[in-house]
Amino acid sequence: MARSWATLGVDLHLEPTGPGLRRGLTDALREAVRTGRLGPGTRLPSSRVLAADLGIARNTVADAYADLVAEGWLTARQGSGTRVAERVAAPPSRTSARRPAGHARPTYDLRPGTPDLASFPRTAWLRAARRAVTSAPHDALGYGDGRGRPELRAALAGYLARARGVRADPETLLVCGGFAHGLVLLAGVLRARGVHTVAVESYGLHVHRDLLTRAGLRTVPLPVDDRGADTGALTDAGAVLLTPAHQFPTGVPLHPDRRAAVVAWAHRTGGLILEDDYDGEFRYDRQSVGALQGLDPDRVVYLGTASKSLAPGLRLGWMALPPSLVGDVLDDPTSRTPGVLDQLTLAQFLDSGDYDRHVRSARLRYRRRRDALVAALAERAPAVRVSGIAAGLHAVLPLPSGTERQVARAAAWHGLAVHSLSMFRHPDASLPPLDALVVGYGTPPDHAWAGALDALCRALP
Ligand SMILES: Cc1ncc(COP(=O)(O)O)c(C=O)c1O
Repeated sequence: MARSWATLGVDLHLEPTGPGLRRGLTDALREAVRTGRLGPGTRLPSSRVLAADLGIARNTVADAYADLVAEGWLTARQGSGTRVAERVAAPPSRTSARRPAGHARPTYDLRPGTPDLASFPRTAWLRAARRAVTSAPHDALGYGDGRGRPELRAALAGYLARARGVRADPETLLVCGGFAHGLVLLAGVLRARGVHTVAVESYGLHVHRDLLTRAGLRTVPLPVDDRGADTGALTDAGAVLLTPAHQFPTGVPLHPDRRAAVVAWAHRTGGLILEDDYDGEFRYDRQSVGALQGLDPDRVVYLGTASKSLAPGLRLGWMALPPSLVGDVLDDPTSRTPGVLDQLTLAQFLDSGDYDRHVRSARLRYRRRRDALVAALAERAPAVRVSGIAAGLHAVLPLPSGTERQVARAAAWHGLAVHSLSMFRHPDASLPPLDALVVGYGTPPDHAWAGALDALCRALP
């Protein structure tokens, strides 16, 4: 059986004997240097000490150190022991750039999913919170309505109708703890109604697929192409989960024909459409793509979230439910709404116009970042044809076939945390895999964006 240690702050998973032991140690140490867990100049324990620590032969440690010295990751000098090299060997990509010394751990987070948390509108939120606490009636602090505070449902109904084309009625809106919570509640309802299968986009977030699976539902992939999910391929699923405004992660809007096709499918089969409108506010070049829910509020559940527009840590989301589902969702004992003070704060934030102001200024900032990304790629990596950039907080950078892993490794070398497109692929997807990076441009604070772009361009072929 393989053994594991956490030593030097490095997790070592080692085979008990044979070449696997030396390889395991070498790989773990190399990875620790590469990812910055062992920073430049760090002195490693002597081979005798580390061997005793790990309960393995001293020669094995000495051989692993020698391998890494030969590869340029470590240096060994008489009198100063074995250390992590100050300037380590060439990055594992075709680029000849060297990783700047001092980049000890991922410096820039370009994974999609999180907005710029540094620009959370603290002052305006505080103002709204003060108003919320001051004006909340005593009974607001009780258990209250399972759908959430009426003030927030009313404010959301107005906003969603105006900004997203949702046919929203405060009576059938339900406040939840973000999209994921809403999805769990809906999965429970679907399962209780005898649904076994939910169609999902062949590229999507695996955490959402996992939530459905955990609720006892099978997920089947719908092919995704440049017109979004192929809703014409829907067959006997009881529901379909879609990101119509901005397919996640490929970034295309669902084509109008496919919108019509999915609504027709829902009518024909009684199936339910779950619309994940996670970043609908952020469309840059044209009018935003309205919600699918507007086409048929009886067959579409609209799910929205504050995770992109404000911050995921708020855990605030909402669902516009077909009236026939409200009772079933509320029957679920886990359908507890987020804290009332946060709900009332968001209601104030919406009513005062601060939400619109914040979204408008965030949209402008993200758009500038996107434009800088496009310009930098055009100049420094012209072979990369960036896509999925009309909206949202991430872009897709297609790569030559077979190079995705190599480029992702090079990106890590340059201090970037990024995701490759294959991470999002449904395991049963039938279309050939596409090689690409999914680059989130929301997360780095403004002052770090130029550096992040520079590192990204160095990592690309
Ligand atoms: C595709 C998609 N849906 C929904 C969400 C939001 O999820 P939640 O509201 O649970 O934070 C995200 C956030 O990253 C997302 O990428």
